[in-house]
Amino acid sequence: MELRRDAARKYPILGLLPERAVEQIALRLSPKWMSEITGIESKTGAETNGYFIGCPFSTRQLLTLPDEVVYKKLVECGQMSADRGAKIIGLGAYTSVAGDAGETVAERLKGIINVTTGNSYTVYTAVEGLLKGAELMGVEAANASVAIVGATGSIGAVCAKILAAQVGEVALVGRDISKLEKLKADIEARSDCRAVVKVAPEIRAALKEADLVLAVSSAGKELVFPEDLKIGAVVCDVARPRDVSKTVVENRDDVLVIEGGVITVPGSNVNFNFTFGFPPSTAFACMSETMILSLEGTNESYTLGRDLTVEQVMNMGKLAKKHGFELAGFRSFEVAVSDADIEKVRQNAQRKLRPVAA
Ligand SMILES: NC(=O)c1ccc[n+]([C@@H]2O[C@H](COP(=O)([O-])OP(=O)(O)OC[C@H]3O[C@@H](n4cnc5c(N)ncnc54)[C@H](OP(=O)(O)O)[C@@H]3O)[C@@H](O)[C@H]2O)c1
Repeated sequence: MELRRDAARKYPILGLLPERAVEQIALRLSPKWMSEITGIESKTGAETNGYFIGCPFSTRQLLTLPDEVVYKKLVECGQMSADRGAKIIGLGAYTSVAGDAGETVAERLKGIINVTTGNSYTVYTAVEGLLKGAELMGVEAANASVAIVGATGSIGAVCAKILAAQVGEVALVGRDISKLEKLKADIEARSDCRAVVKVAPEIRAALKEADLVLAVSSAGKELVFPEDLKIGAVVCDVARPRDVSKTVVENRDDVLVIEGGVITVPGSNVNFNFTFGFPPSTAFACMSETMILSLEGTNESYTLGRDLTVEQVMNMGKLAKKHGFELAGFRSFEVAVSDADIEKVRQNAQRKLRPVAA
């Protein structure tokens, strides 16, 4: 994520400066009110509103600056939100990845405002999206083989546990074999595990066998390429920066690539008063989690730290349904993917699988 590009949405002149110059300016800036979010209305009749706050850091800064520098500005965001009457603050994008994923920030804001990273709903909708994509492509989830790229991560591990209860095989892809072995043992010890669980340190080999791929690594570079995917595969890319190369959609008309976490927000007049590249009334899943908790009137922090539990993810899915949040249509590389588009991909896959007549 380029700070220069994001900052230019509010202050166009910053778009003319080099990224490093904008980073230096941002370091000295306080958080900024970006817009008011209005018109969120639950199915239950509850209503809420909120604000977008710009926390002036680039992704690079969030990942490389000393944690204390980042925590200080995030706590400032929390304090200014509480001053405007907010009861909960969501840590969007890389503000949730920095440091200890919200734990210290929540501790310092205890009694002032509640905190969530939004990752429970990100996980819920990533799995939901992958399985919905499978259904539309005619892949039977119960017998499918799923490769999870970045399986030992905060998002990957809980996705793996949830999917192991629903699919035929789960291949855990990562670079650290001991972490992969430990995760495999944790999953197999769960009473709801029905899948065969495999450790898969060789990503290309794992992708070649996968009917479904969930990409959730923090590699920061492309890991999934067209030549490695099975005919008819469904790939859900939640990673930012993306794990999946754009060449997959350019060169494989038989593979469905979708993004995780695009959600329809309930309410007939939802207005974010801010453009972040999504169609009207739709938001990232992590943003939606903050809205859901606000509608729920929760008075404690929710998703914090790197160890997400299946229970908190499934509970967030239930709360989302209660308030009328749902997976929006699919998107792929910033473009909407219609059911008709998916049907074409499915037919292309079927054609490639059909034996050629002699
Ligand atoms: N779309 C959204 O709304 C949203 C919300 C939150 C997070 N995210 C994204 O989701 C991703 C995961 O987040 P997280 O918090 O779970 O991160 P995390 O805890 O750091 O986990 C990332 C995992 O990726 C693995 N990994 C890193 N480089 C790899 C490589 N070259 N090959 C294979 N595996 C590799 C790491 O394992 P090893 O180092 O052991 O290999 C680690 O298990 C990030 O890209 C993040 O930006 C998206």
